[in-house]
Amino acid sequence: MSIDLSLEFTGIRFPNPYLLSSAPPTESESNIMRAFEAGWGGVVTKTIGMHPVVNVAGPKTKFLRANAETGTLSMNKGRAGVLHSSWNWELISDKPLDWWVPRLARIKKAFPDRILIASIMAGSGSDKELDHWRTLARACQEQGADGLELNLSCPHMDREDMGSNIGRDQQLCSFVTQVVKEAATIPVWAKLTPATSDIVIEAGAVFRGGADAVVSSNTFPSLPLLDPESLEFEMNVDGLVSSGGLGGPAILPLSLAKMSQMTRAYPEKSFSGIGGIADFGHALNYFLLGCGTVQVCTAAMLDHAVGPNVIKKLLADTKAFLEKRGLSGLEAIRGTRRDRVVAHSQIRRPEDSDYRGGHEPQEGYAEPVAG
Ligand SMILES: Cc1cc2nc3c(=O)[nH]c(=O)nc-3n(C[C@H](O)[C@H](O)[C@H](O)COP(=O)(O)O)c2cc1C
Repeated sequence: MSIDLSLEFTGIRFPNPYLLSSAPPTESESNIMRAFEAGWGGVVTKTIGMHPVVNVAGPKTKFLRANAETGTLSMNKGRAGVLHSSWNWELISDKPLDWWVPRLARIKKAFPDRILIASIMAGSGSDKELDHWRTLARACQEQGADGLELNLSCPHMDREDMGSNIGRDQQLCSFVTQVVKEAATIPVWAKLTPATSDIVIEAGAVFRGGADAVVSSNTFPSLPLLDPESLEFEMNVDGLVSSGGLGGPAILPLSLAKMSQMTRAYPEKSFSGIGGIADFGHALNYFLLGCGTVQVCTAAMLDHAVGPNVIKKLLADTKAFLEKRGLSGLEAIRGTRRDRVVAHSQIRRPEDSDYRGGHEPQEGYAEPVAG
């Protein structure tokens, strides 16, 4: 049976379901070209905005690793140990729209069959800000972008009317989506923040605003750890830190929980899954819960900046998985585990005969004492 990884998602034809998410791997023309050469089916550009952006003085991203021998978790003990997460406080692209415009056109001309999604972000507090969304949307689609992803989820914005502050407010995120939909002729995806108590509410709001897909998760709000020797945050500028975003392996189960809530609430809608994906086993979780495409950031950053080995292995392992099961594509399994997530009360309890009323041979989780 011949295997075909191509798929239709929100009306766009993707050569495969694997995208680089909006982040450093997609911050430049050369990176995006390299990503397409490596085999990624699509990319979402680093978020483009209308406001000048200046990042903090110092590193913008670090990687937290766990040392199995000592049990320590640290960002500053070299590359030894197992990757736990990425932590960043990087803002959106520091390149203005004028810089992006000719590059978007060149990328699309060089790779017409690969999918270029432009991530865009503006505020929501005034007509001028709403016009920024329209300007960004029109400029990107005029250059040939296949779709738009609305950044309603940047976790480190002081402005009340931007980023995850929009994503947390159902009225605002619905309205902003509607404003962009009215200006756009291409599909519009909404990237939501996981930092909210019930993400189903915001998903419903952006769908009501006309979103063609929901994308989740952006990074989770978090702090770097304090160094037990220096008593300084492992990442700081002049001793100070602010809330940043956690990505990578640590957020895979957290992000899946958010995704599962949304795909169960809206089984007919389109979802693009992000969070902790480094290999096919991770991506498969998102497909089984109902996602059509998935996106990768941290794993790609650690593999030659754009993940050439990550995508090669994703494609090979996806094909091997389908071959083994005699399937021609991923559509056959998409969403097939969505309904296995149920209310706690629906989980079977032990039979009466198994109930020992506290007289189990062993108490709790304690290991039996040796000897
Ligand atoms: C350094 C860095 C910068 C990021 N910048 C953006 C951004 O500009 N826009 C955006 O929507 N998400 C941004 N993200 C979030 C990622 O696209 C992605 O949602 C998140 O890292 C989770 O995926 P991962 O676990 O594969 O890293 C950034 C992440 C990192 C680590």
